[in-house]
Amino acid sequence: MKRIMAAILFACSPIVAVAADNPDWAYPVAPQLPAPDDTIQVTVPGSDKSYTRKQIGDGFAPPDWFPSEHAAMPPVVANGRGPAVRACALCHRPTGDGHPESSSLTNLNEFYFTRAMQQFKTSARKGVRANTMVIIATAMTDAEVKEAWTYYSKLKPTVKTKVVETDTVAKSIVAEGGMRFLAAAGGNEPIGQRIIELPEDDQQAKNRNAHIGFTAYVPTGSIAKGQALASNVGKSVTCAICHGPDLKGLGDVPSIAGRSPMYTFRQLNDIKTGNRSGVAVELMQQVVANLNDDDMIALSAYVGSLEP
Ligand code: HEC
Ligand code: HEC
Repeated sequence: MKRIMAAILFACSPIVAVAADNPDWAYPVAPQLPAPDDTIQVTVPGSDKSYTRKQIGDGFAPPDWFPSEHAAMPPVVANGRGPAVRACALCHRPTGDGHPESSSLTNLNEFYFTRAMQQFKTSARKGVRANTMVIIATAMTDAEVKEAWTYYSKLKPTVKTKVVETDTVAKSIVAEGGMRFLAAAGGNEPIGQRIIELPEDDQQAKNRNAHIGFTAYVPTGSIAKGQALASNVGKSVTCAICHGPDLKGLGDVPSIAGRSPMYTFRQLNDIKTGNRSGVAVELMQQVVANLNDDDMIALSAYVGSLEP
C-alpha cells in the first residue's frame, strides 16, 4: 500500500508552498463564562434523568441522557481519570458523534485511532483546538486508549451534521464548549468564506443532549466545487485513491465521509501549516500544498455532505 502511494506522489506536479494561517471561524475559543448554576434540575425531552448546569459541564461525570441507547461505557469514556483525562463522553458524546467543539469518533479503525492519540501525545498534532487532546492523551495509558477505541468503534453515527449552502447565515456567538449559538439580537449576516456550524436547538446543545444535530452552513457552490476538486488530479490528489472509492476509509487511512466540515477544514489547514505532522501525514501534505482556504472549505463541504 505504502509503495503504491509513493508512486502516485512521485507522479504529482511540483509542490508550491502557500502561506496559511488559522481563520478564527475554524478555531473557535470559548469565552470566560459565569459559574454554572448547581441548584436547578434540568431535564430534556424523552429522558427520565436530570442534571444541574454544573453537572452538565462536569468533565468527570458528564450527562448521559439516554443510557439505554448505547452499550455500557468503559470508565475512561464515562468518567475519565483525574486530574487530566477528562471523560471522552463530555465532548465526543456517549454516541461518538461529537459536536462542533470536538470530532466524531465512530468509524475510525484501531490503527488510525491509536496513531491519532500518539500524535497528540507527542504534540505532532497541536494548536488551539488540538491542545485539549494533547493534555488528555499525554496522561492516558495504552490500555485506556484501547478501551476508548473498543467502545467507540462499535457505534454507528446517529446524528450527522447537515451541510447547507447559503449566502447569508444567522448571526451567532461562540459560547459554551467553543460552540456557536444564535446571537440574542437576531439578524443575518453574509456567510463570506466561512463554515458556520449551528445547533438544531441551542438549549439542547447546551444541555449536551446527544439527540441534537448540527447544520454546517457553507458558501453557495461549495459542494459542487469540492466534488470537482476531490476527483481532480490537477490541483490536488484524488482523495479516493487513498481514502477509498466512497471515502469511507481504506486500510489505516481514515474515513472522511459525513464528518463535520469545520473539523475537516481544520485538519486540512493544520496539515498545511504543520500543526498536524508525522509520517502518515506526509501523504496528505502533497494533497493540501496547492489548496487555498476556499478550496479547503469546498472539499470539507463536499466530503461532509456524503453518507458517513
Ligand atoms: C474537552 C473536550 C474533549 C474531551 C474530554 C476529549 N476530546 Fe478528543 N477531541 C477534542 C477535540 C477538540 C478534538 C479535535 C481536535 C482538532 O480539531 O484538531 C478531538 C479529537 C480527538 C481524536 C481525533 C479524531 C480523528 O478523526 O483524528 C481522537 C481519537 C480523540 N479526540 C479521542 C478522545 C478520547 C479517547 C477521549 C477520552 C479519553 C477524548 N478524546 C476526550 C476534544 C475532546
Ligand atoms: C496519498 C494518499 C492520500 C490522498 C490522495 C488523500 N489522503 Fe487524506 N489522509 C491520508 C492519510 C494516510 C491520512 C491519515 C493521516 C494520519 O494518520 O494522521 C489522511 C487523513 C486525512 C484527513 C484527516 C482525517 C481525520 O479524521 O482527522 C482528512 C480531512 C483528509 N485526509 C482529507 C483528504 C482529502 C479531502 C483528500 C483529497 C483532496 C485526501 N485526503 C487525499 C492519505 C491521503
